[in-house]
Amino acid sequence: MEVVHIDDLTKVYGSGKTAVRALVGANVVAQTGELVALLGPSGSGKTTLLTCMAGIVEPTSGRVTIGGITTYDDGWKVHDRSRFRLEHLGFIFQAHNLIPFLTARENVLMALQIQGVTGPPARRIAQDLLNYLGVGDRQSHFPEQLSGGEQQRVAIARAIANSPQVILADEPTAALDTERGQSVMALFRRVAREKGSAVICVTHDSRMLEGFDHIYQVKDGLVSDER
Ligand SMILES: Nc1ncnc2c1ncn2[C@@H]1O[C@H](COP(=O)(O)OP(=O)(O)OP(=O)(O)O)[C@@H](O)[C@H]1O
Ligand SMILES: [Mg+2]
Repeated sequence: MEVVHIDDLTKVYGSGKTAVRALVGANVVAQTGELVALLGPSGSGKTTLLTCMAGIVEPTSGRVTIGGITTYDDGWKVHDRSRFRLEHLGFIFQAHNLIPFLTARENVLMALQIQGVTGPPARRIAQDLLNYLGVGDRQSHFPEQLSGGEQQRVAIARAIANSPQVILADEPTAALDTERGQSVMALFRRVAREKGSAVICVTHDSRMLEGFDHIYQVKDGLVSDER
C-alpha cells in the first residue's frame, strides 16, 4: 500500500531575481514497510522535499498525499497540519531540535504524551528505545549535556516513539559511527516491518545505502529514481 505519494512537486523560494527553484516536478512514492533514501549534493533540494512532505514548507505546485490523505494539491488541503503531523509523522531534523529544558527521557515522553500515552507504559517505551539506541544511561541528561551523536539518537527515539505511519529523517546517521548508524537502520527496518511505517531518509552516508529498498537521487531540484 502506498503511504507516500508525491506528484509533480515544485518549490520556488522567493521571487523575481532572487527566486530559487529548489524542487522541479519531483515524484516520489513509498510503500508501507519501505525504507527509501534521498541522495544528493548539498543544496539539491532534499530538506525542501522532506519539509514539503511534512507540511512545514508550502510547495509552489503539485500534490502531496501521506497515509491516503492529500495534504497539498495546489494549496493546503489539511486544515490542522500540526495535528496531522502529530498523528501521522515522525520527523528527525538536520538540527536535532530537542527541547533544551527537558531531559532526554522527557523529550521522548513528551512525544508520547501528545498521543495520550502516559505513565508506566510511556516510561517503558521511552526506556526501551533509549536503551536500544545506546543512550539509556543518559536519559536524565539535558540536551546540552549530550554529544551531537547522543542528541541525534534521542531525537530518533522521540520521532519513532509513537510508531508513526511515515518517518521523515534528515541525515539521521550523520553524526554516528558505522556501528551506531547500522543499529539506527536496523531500528528503522524493525519499525517498518512491525508497524508498516514508511521511512524516508536523506543521507550522504554511502555506508548505509545497502539497507534501503529504494533510492532517489536529487540533483538541482530534480528527483530521479535510481533503484
Ligand atoms: N527558506 C529558504 N529561502 C530561500 N532559499 C532556500 C530556503 N531554504 C532552502 N533554500 C535553497 O533551496 C535550495 C535547496 O535547499 P535544501 O535545504 O532543500 O538543500 P539540501 O539538499 O537539503 O542541502 P544540504 O545537503 O546542504 O542539507 C538551496 O539552493 C537553498 O539555498
Ligand atoms: Mg538539507
